[in-house]
Parts: sequence; C-alpha cells; structure tokens
Amino acid sequence: MTCQMGQDISLAAELLREGKLVAFATETVYGLGAHALDETAAARIFAAKERPTFDPLIVHIADRARLHELVLDVPEKAHKLAEEFWPGPLTLVLPKRDIVPGLITSGLPNVAVRIPAHPVAQKLLQEANIPIAAPSANLFGQVSPTSAEHVREQLGERIDYILDGGSCTVGLESTVVAVDQEQVTLLRPGGTSLESIEAIIGTVQVSNSSSDETTPQNAPGMLAKHYAPGTPLTIVSNLSEAMAQFSPAETGLLLFGESDLANQFAVTEQLSAESDLTEAAVNFFAAVRRLDKQHIKQIVAVPFPEQGLGRALNDRLRRASIR
Ligand code: TXA
Ligand code: MG
Repeated sequence: MTCQMGQDISLAAELLREGKLVAFATETVYGLGAHALDETAAARIFAAKERPTFDPLIVHIADRARLHELVLDVPEKAHKLAEEFWPGPLTLVLPKRDIVPGLITSGLPNVAVRIPAHPVAQKLLQEANIPIAAPSANLFGQVSPTSAEHVREQLGERIDYILDGGSCTVGLESTVVAVDQEQVTLLRPGGTSLESIEAIIGTVQVSNSSSDETTPQNAPGMLAKHYAPGTPLTIVSNLSEAMAQFSPAETGLLLFGESDLANQFAVTEQLSAESDLTEAAVNFFAAVRRLDKQHIKQIVAVPFPEQGLGRALNDRLRRASIR
C-alpha cells in the first residue's frame, strides 16, 4: 500500500515527533525525514533507503538559535557562513554534542547541519519543534527526487507520509563544508557555489575524497558511484564524439545549450537552452529520470562549465556515469 501524500504540515510534524518517516520538500531535493534525536527513528531511514550506515545524515533545524543544541562549538568562519547562507543550500559539518546519536553521524565526532529555505520545510521544522535528520528521499545510490511524485515512485510503500511542496527550486543537494578553527573543507559541491563561499571566508580546501569507487572516505557517503540512473550514462567531450561512439537512434541526450546535432538523437532533454547553470540544476535530476524511462541503450552528456553550479552538476554527472 502506498503512503499518503498531501500538504498537511501538522500531520507530518506529528508523525515525525512519533518517530515515523516523513518525506518532505526542501529547496534542494526532497528529504526523507525522521526525528534526529531518536535513534530508532533514524534507523528507519537507513532501512527504507537501503543505505549503508557508514553514510551519515544531515540534520535539519528551524533556526540558528538551535545550532548550539547540536554542536559544541561554532568557529568564526562557520558563523559567517551561517549568517550569509542560512536558510539555504549549505550544510556545515561541526563537532557534535552527545545528544546527537552516533547513528546519525556514522560514529564520527562531527554532525552535518543545515537550515532549509523551503517554506514547507521551515514550517514543518517549526511545528515539529525537533531537529529532523534527512537524506535525499531516494533509494541509496539512485537519482535524487525533486518532486513528491519522484518520492512516491521509489519509497511510497516504505514511508508514512509525503509532504508535497511542489518542485524543488534549486534541484541539487546542498553544498557540504567541514569547518574547524583553521580551515574550511568542501566535502560535496552543491547548491551554494564554491565561489560565493570563498567570497565570504576566503580559500576553501577542496577534498578529493571521492577518488575510490566503493570505500568510504573522509567525506563518508561520497562514493564515486551515486545519483545513478538504470540506463548507462556516458560523459562525452562533444556531440560528434557521441555520434561516433554510439548509435544516436538508441541514445538519449542530456543537453545544455543549443546544438545542431541534438535532433539526431532518439530523445533529447534540454536542461537550459540559454546555457543557464541555475536552470540546468533545477531540471537535472528530473531530466535524468525521464531519460531513464525511455527505451534507449544509453544516455550521453557533455560536461558543464566547471564554475558556479557547474561544479556540482559535473560532480553529479561523474558519479552517475560510474557503473
Ligand atoms: O540538500 C541536501 O543536502 C539534502 C536535503 C534533503 O537537505 N540532503 C542530502 O542528504 O543530500 P544525503 O544524505 O543524500 O547526503 C548527505 C551527505 C553524506 O553522504 C555525506 O557525504 C555528508 O552529507 N555528511 C553528512 N554528515 C556528515 C558528517 N558528519 N561528516 C562528513 N560528511 C557528512
Ligand atoms: Mg543522496
């Protein structure tokens, strides 16, 4: 039986307080939420997603005042980033308090926290009045959901409620940064650009933890293979190369900007005709899903410009292309 889907924030808040699983809209992607301070509830997230417990969860809070309930210390740089980017698509990794269950952080001494900007997520956090742990509401390793319907397709039978807040307005997960007294390290590129972060706090270390295919690294959960559709996805340097390598009639194209060659392919998903990275981010996961439902042998895509949201888009593309 599939779960209820609707816009009842009070019901969703009540279910969360009771230890149930509620998927909800955020501006980045839909999250699969559970009471972050209830280890049994959090364990249900791992079960529903079939997620390995070495991959820690992000804890969502309603406002900055609540940060100190979860973390021991907020270094100056973290404070500046929170002030600038919260609510919004930025996650800060900071030393945790004992109140945060070890399962949430996969046994690490740090916890990842963010304040989502989506009004539905905000109201839910306020009404529930608890911190909510939430990974993206998809099966582990698969394409992230940017609509309530995406969540229902994959997890509808495993969770208690889906709080529908429409389509996500950012479309890529939050940027994850670890902050200690001396340095800030980018663990996952995402909806807040590296450039905008560096404009606030100076140089950021870029972690290269994703070089290995299967083992967890210092940014756990950032496995090389991730965000993957069932249909093989190949990154090509240009569309002529794609046409030489594959039969275009059996190939779906994930396109960014206009191309004369686009109509040669079996099906094309235009991410942004104007080559706008923000628009491409909004459309990305839904476009990959639609291509994945077509009867095609492969999906091809050309890398995005490695700047702004292009960094996060390339990250998702690379992981989606690993088989
Ligand atoms: O936009 C988002 O961040 C979405 C929405 C729902 O908020 N959530 C999300 O969660 O993308 P998830 O679980 O799919 O990705 C969380 C990632 C982990 O895989 C890991 O790389 C990093 O955040 N992370 C979480 N806790 C961490 C910790 N304690 N230390 C280091 N990295 C951590
Ligand atoms: Mg995810």
